[in-house]
Amino acid sequence: MRKKDQWNMILIILLIVSITGLHYGTTASPWPIHDFYRRLYYIPIILSAFHFRLRGGFTSSAVIMLVYAPHLLLYFGTLDIEVINQLLEAAMFMVVGVITGYLAEQAYQRELKLQNQVSQLKKMDLLEKKLRKSERLASLGQLASGIAHEIRNPLGIIKTISQTLHQEALEAEETSMAEGLSIIENETDRANRVIKGMLDFARPEPLKLKAMDASVILEDLLHIMKSLAKQHQVEISSNMKAILPIHADADRLKQALMNLMLNGIQSMKNGGTLTITLDIVNREKEEKQALIVIRDEGNGINEKDLPYIFDPFFTTKDGGTGLGLSVTHRIIEEHQGSIEVKSHKDEGTEFYLYLPLAKEE
Ligand SMILES: Nc1ncnc2c1ncn2[C@@H]1O[C@H](COP(=O)(O)OP(=O)(O)OP(=O)(O)O)[C@@H](O)[C@H]1O
Ligand SMILES: [Mg+2]
Repeated sequence: MRKKDQWNMILIILLIVSITGLHYGTTASPWPIHDFYRRLYYIPIILSAFHFRLRGGFTSSAVIMLVYAPHLLLYFGTLDIEVINQLLEAAMFMVVGVITGYLAEQAYQRELKLQNQVSQLKKMDLLEKKLRKSERLASLGQLASGIAHEIRNPLGIIKTISQTLHQEALEAEETSMAEGLSIIENETDRANRVIKGMLDFARPEPLKLKAMDASVILEDLLHIMKSLAKQHQVEISSNMKAILPIHADADRLKQALMNLMLNGIQSMKNGGTLTITLDIVNREKEEKQALIVIRDEGNGINEKDLPYIFDPFFTTKDGGTGLGLSVTHRIIEEHQGSIEVKSHKDEGTEFYLYLPLAKEE
């Protein structure tokens, strides 16, 4: 019981006890105040119907009837208008308690229904926002893959020619020419990385889903990332539920997770710990899901940047493509999962990845 309800209950009990005391204390007196005390019983009845609804109205009026009944025994054997009057009043306690309780109950149910509708509307609004976002990402993806295909070939040609010229410049000892050509090669490589990212993002191939153990995928990844983490003075700590079957395309899921781990490692300029956890969760009204959390102690994300981090080409890094998270977002959505992020500037970032569990066959 809530604290407020406890206080209300104590107040109602105190009222019943003191009114009963006053009422019984004045029984012998012919003074009409006695009748007035009896009517005071309506106060605790209405109060408890108001606070505890039908249950409260019924219980308090029943209790009052019970404490009132011995008093009626005083008139046992006599039947005059006064006794009938008192019997009717006792019945009125019940009637008032039940009617007020019933009305309070109805008002309460209406309020509950309204609250429910409001929370459903909020949910629908969220879903609509999500849908609009994935539509936007999908059309950007199509555009990106079109451009990527067109640019890949000329880039390939530029790179091959500049490599040949680079070789010739080195042989002719033309250092500044060689330097310029090596910049061209590096930049073409970077452009190629952007294109690879765009193609990953827009990849039209359907997933090859199989039931597999999420912890095996994560263990594989930890193995791959270990040396890179070490180079950045980052320690990887993991806490994983041993066996957790999910439906996944292992390669694609690894790619999604790797982008998150890379971002985490890159965010910790002075080293730190990257923590990976895997567990089962049961979110409100949803089926059980696998939850992977990737937590870093890095520089965090600016609050104003948070709404954009999953958009393609959004980056705050020199040389970043800004495609990592949009690829991850897409892969997780294709797995019917969802991704959430919490971040505090200069404290770190947590990515929460929810994935459906494989159904037992
Ligand atoms: N763990 C993180 N800590 C701090 N900032 C992050 C983190 N993850 C993402 N971000 C922010 O979100 C932006 C987008 O990330 P995303 O992975 O999409 O691209 P990127 O890392 O900049 O480029 P790329 O993935 O090509 O290297 C980053 O530039 C960074 O500002
Ligand atoms: Mg990245």
